[in-house]
Amino acid sequence: MKVGDTKSAVIVLDGTLDHWRHHVRALAASGDLPESVRWVDPRRSPAEPTGGLFASAPPAAAAEPTQAKGDASGQALLLPRRFVEQLKTVSCFRSEEMWLVAYRLLRRIVMGERDLMEDPLDKDVTAFLRMEKAVRRDAHKMHAFVRFRCIQDADARGGERFIAWYEPSHLIVEREAEFFRKRFPSMDWSILSPDRCAHWDGKEVTITAGATRDAAPTDDELEELWCAYYASIFNPARVKLKAMTAEMPRKFWHTLPETQQIPDLLADVPRRLAEMAETSRRMAESAMPFVPQGAPLAELKDALPGCEGCELFSNHTSAVAGEGPENASIAILGEQPGDLEEQAGRPFVGPAGQVLDELLSGAGLPREKLYLTNAVKHFRHEVQFKSGERGKRRLHKRPTLEHVSRCQPWFDAEMGRVQPETLICLGATAARSVFGPTFRMPSPGDAPIARTSRYAKRTHVTFHPAAILRAPTPERRDSLTQHARSVFEAAKGPTS
Ligand code: URA
Repeated sequence: MKVGDTKSAVIVLDGTLDHWRHHVRALAASGDLPESVRWVDPRRSPAEPTGGLFASAPPAAAAEPTQAKGDASGQALLLPRRFVEQLKTVSCFRSEEMWLVAYRLLRRIVMGERDLMEDPLDKDVTAFLRMEKAVRRDAHKMHAFVRFRCIQDADARGGERFIAWYEPSHLIVEREAEFFRKRFPSMDWSILSPDRCAHWDGKEVTITAGATRDAAPTDDELEELWCAYYASIFNPARVKLKAMTAEMPRKFWHTLPETQQIPDLLADVPRRLAEMAETSRRMAESAMPFVPQGAPLAELKDALPGCEGCELFSNHTSAVAGEGPENASIAILGEQPGDLEEQAGRPFVGPAGQVLDELLSGAGLPREKLYLTNAVKHFRHEVQFKSGERGKRRLHKRPTLEHVSRCQPWFDAEMGRVQPETLICLGATAARSVFGPTFRMPSPGDAPIARTSRYAKRTHVTFHPAAILRAPTPERRDSLTQHARSVFEAAKGPTS
């Protein structure tokens, strides 16, 4: 019989592409590529899982061709390389029909339709491409939704094995094992599925027969962590239930610990949306719109005079920008510029600045190598008319938390550029702008403590030079000074 004859054959497959190929070559070797072949593939009929967790998968060529004869060895069919690649993907499609479509296409290509795969209107081509797409999509989902749980396993590296239960729509576990091997090379893992299981022990990937769901653990210590992470990235403003259920069909939900939280998270959406609206209102009513994000310090300084982030811009003062090199390893944060600073347009040039300079030189820290700035960039003050004298005085008025929080985008932007190793907060206003409004100042007798903040790995808090100046008694002044000195000394750290 010649290629193209119409005799029909029935061939039982073990479900693998290799086995199918073996038979196709055998048919071709015997000069017979019948038009109609019935491919029987028990693996693709909805069957029960076949064994325990570590039972072996059936060998690759368990079934023999029932009718076709001939030896496939050496019989190469000339097929377009891309088609061969696509076949590898399509062969994971969970339907017997797949073999039929693949065979029809192969046969037509072999019989001379070399450009067949370029015809987007051909029914077989369309079906083949649809199956390829479905498998790729399934693989993509598997990458995203497999969740490992940790179990104790004395035979595994580090005594721990990570197990995932996953039910793919198609037969992709073997194909995707390589993806997981590359992603998690250093942990021993098993992906269990009803159809096949894949295992990695650091040396090789082993494929075993399918398992049942109870072989996989349902909770572990990682779960809480993962759920907390998921809740933190859950964005109530982007909830699209339809897209969520399409992307993450409900059948996966029970294996994904984080999805158990979805009902609670959804119930919390109105509150979170209101909170987000409030935050964005506050951001809009802050310096944020005036701060050129990511800009270098010089550009920030140029933009600062245009800031109308709070009402202080209208108090007839000019904002005072930070000062110092962008690569400073130490930054110092004060409260707000004073009268003289506002006039000079530079931070810490008045009386408090002199005290600061003394502290710096005592610690051997050259001012020009540090970055100096303030939590609030305008001088908040009240005007006092001096009785019996000419003129008026501008008296320092402490900025409120609202002023600090509205001005914060400037400090964020400055620190984004400088990224200091060490930050020293001078006084409660500076400290609260970094650690939050409930921060409590240390006692003067406390040892200097370096905390980690979002701005610097080592963040110190000490007393403001103005507080030292205004100290009610010499003893108090000494103790505040002593604390500040020890902080500046500590701030030098191992890197200065
Ligand atoms: N006090 C501050 O907090 N900053 C200055 O720049 C001057 C005085």
